[in-house]
Amino acid sequence: MTDIWNDLTQRAEAVKTRPIIRLFDADPARFDAFSAQHDGLLLDFSKTNIDAQTLSALQALATETGVAAQRDAMFSGQAINVTEGRSVLHTALRPDPSRPVMVDGEDVTVGVRASLDLMAGFAEGLRDGTITASDGQPFTDVVNIGIGGSDLGPAMACRALSPFIDRITPHFVSNIDGAHIADTLAALDPQRTLVIIASKTFTTIETLTNADTAVAWLKDAVGEQFGAHLAAVSTAEDRTSAYGIAPERVFGFEDWVGGRYSLWGPVGLSVMIAIGPEHFSDLLAGALSMDTNFLTAAPAENLPLLFALVGLWHNNFCGYESRAVLPYDQRLGLLPAYLQQLDMESNGKHTTKDGTPVAGMTGPIVWGEPGTNGQHAFYQLLHQGTRIVPAEFLIAAQSHEPGLQHQHEILKANCLAQAEALMVGTQQDDPQPSPERRFDGNRPSVTIAYQQLTPFVLGQLVALYEHRVFVEGAVWGINSFDQFGVELGKKMAKDVQNDPEAMAQMSASTRGLSAFLA
Ligand code: F6P
Repeated sequence: MTDIWNDLTQRAEAVKTRPIIRLFDADPARFDAFSAQHDGLLLDFSKTNIDAQTLSALQALATETGVAAQRDAMFSGQAINVTEGRSVLHTALRPDPSRPVMVDGEDVTVGVRASLDLMAGFAEGLRDGTITASDGQPFTDVVNIGIGGSDLGPAMACRALSPFIDRITPHFVSNIDGAHIADTLAALDPQRTLVIIASKTFTTIETLTNADTAVAWLKDAVGEQFGAHLAAVSTAEDRTSAYGIAPERVFGFEDWVGGRYSLWGPVGLSVMIAIGPEHFSDLLAGALSMDTNFLTAAPAENLPLLFALVGLWHNNFCGYESRAVLPYDQRLGLLPAYLQQLDMESNGKHTTKDGTPVAGMTGPIVWGEPGTNGQHAFYQLLHQGTRIVPAEFLIAAQSHEPGLQHQHEILKANCLAQAEALMVGTQQDDPQPSPERRFDGNRPSVTIAYQQLTPFVLGQLVALYEHRVFVEGAVWGINSFDQFGVELGKKMAKDVQNDPEAMAQMSASTRGLSAFLA
């Protein structure tokens, strides 16, 4: 551990029980000093125990671990995914016209733009009815079949942007559990439905099995013309053509886009079909705005860096093991699930880039639910439980329901009040309540605020979280872009299903359960 790390550890010991509210008494400008804004997005981290010295020590930690150089290596296309020998270029999917990205002597943004044009042509054709179903009539519904990064991003974005959805309704099937596809298809007319099979590798058992079920459903209804109802998104065009999907219906991308970072390109096709290419461009513009902030803003104005430093402070120095994502925005209901993959699949690692064991804690547990529902469920533990869970509140100034603004005012009041209550607790000057009615307070939170949940703002938010994950991984020295931890369970599932010899070697518990479930 370095001197800076040790200093932060001692600092946390000394200050973590200091009442956060006292920091506001001591510094009337604390809100301004411990918040930052970029392009209409506000990140307030003043309700944490971070003071000026701690913040500068955290900034020194980022400097010492070479975060800026690692960031520049990612943006410029170096092969920072060292275990897989790949560049990490999801940022090139929201191309900056003034910043070519050279990989193997080629500017990859040229291909990105061509791919976005192809997607837009297809999406527009579907939306204006020039690309039709097998009976010559327009499509009304699109089903995206994919899992993990080939599902969570588009599903989360379509729910978030439902006020922008017109003409074609998106649906998502991910789980191998037949209940998922059965319930989804039962509500749809195959004559009016386009199915997109989304899989980076085109080998994922859940997706290929659900795809077979969907193809059988289409064939039953439309016969040999079923190909008109299919499209695919993948990096493996050999596999999509072996599956029988016409090449002009395949939207390819490169292996330098990680699955959980792939919303911005062809994996976002269902989103583009649902909200239209213009709104999809706004989503990319929002992400690019956050990229620009991350790349160019000074540390004190750099939202992803600040957000990550707060996360590191809570995780590594205060010892808080999880983070609760609490969108006071019903349409961000899938954001916690999306962030679970983004954060936990990226940073749930036990070795550094050079293969040595990590020295301290890496990725925290991410969980959450929209407010106000969570208030009537698990906030009891947030306020009075024995663990401290740093909370992340998200809230818009305006709703999309002008006629229901009074409800939005109640929502905002609840969001602000919960963050305040977590921090302040029951003040000393309150009449002393009985112990079970006492709130100790001093529970930190971050609030992210924006005007309204638009495609641009969603792009900003997701890129903010992507870069927070990046900075935290960079400080820990891990590779945030592989996911070998998902492999063992996948292999064992095959053994359980198909390999009696391997099954015979498994524990008595697994054999007993298997016998019970036979
Ligand atoms: O098993 C994990 C994973 O590889 C994720 O990283 C990925 O997003 C998901 O599976 C789906 O993979 P694919 O897009 O290749 O079907």
